[in-house]
Amino acid sequence: MESVKISPNLQHFQTQLQGLSELEALQFLAAQFPGKVVFSTSFSIEDQAITYWILKHQLDIKIFTLDTGRLFPETYSVWERTKEKYNAQITAYYPEANTLQNFVTQNGPNAFYASVENRKLCCFIRKVEPLQKALLGNAVWITGLRAEHSPDRKDLPMLEWDSSHAIIKFHPILHWTTETVKTFIQQHDVPYNPLHDRGFVSIGCAPCTRAVQPGEDFRAGRWWWEDATKKECGLHVHADNTVHR
Ligand code: ADX
Ligand code: SF4
Repeated sequence: MESVKISPNLQHFQTQLQGLSELEALQFLAAQFPGKVVFSTSFSIEDQAITYWILKHQLDIKIFTLDTGRLFPETYSVWERTKEKYNAQITAYYPEANTLQNFVTQNGPNAFYASVENRKLCCFIRKVEPLQKALLGNAVWITGLRAEHSPDRKDLPMLEWDSSHAIIKFHPILHWTTETVKTFIQQHDVPYNPLHDRGFVSIGCAPCTRAVQPGEDFRAGRWWWEDATKKECGLHVHADNTVHR
């Protein structure tokens, strides 16, 4: 399969983005694609930094979340606090009801522990399909991916073409360190998930996320019972079939 390349068009944008701050880059993209820029938030500490820029500066960027129905209570409460503090409109996308109903009826509520196949199907139903709906008709998808998260994310370009969703992806804080993110959140008094103070680093669905031990890698707490090479949920897939976990 053809490997992912930056199209000439993106190179043009890349040149224009050079030297801009993260906020200016978001403003630039919002102006280039009015009404067609979306930001996906999982309410992680990274995503909260981007949410802050969008809401504080009233950027023309739509914020959405994929509510899997299995998020931590703490995640729902940071969502609620963000909505209250910034009067935010965050669009929630949901799994297709019949598909989910059939899956849970046939396999039980915790089928993801039984096999990798079940787990991937659950992620597909609860995240990947709703993501397709959320991205449809848009031109740019902003994420909170960081290079430090995993070896697969280390060499990502900040601006890339996602051919599986036919959309430009932009990762404004790709090269931030964890310390930079935490300092930003503190300085701007942005609500964040208290699980981050209890050893949780990368936070997804409650049954599939646990705290990590000192020295463990960033994503060790996600799908911890699985082989590290299988740990992906399918949100960040590339045309060369690599998955940026
Ligand atoms: S995942 O692929 O393992 O689930 P991760 O938790 O690292 O992703 O988050 C990376 C980025 O994916 C986030 O910054 C966010 O943009 C997006 N993302 C992940 N989970 C969700 C979600 N439930 N809703 C919306 N966006 C999400
Ligand atoms: Fe299902 Fe777990 Fe994937 Fe959430 S992370 S969608 S609960 S398998």
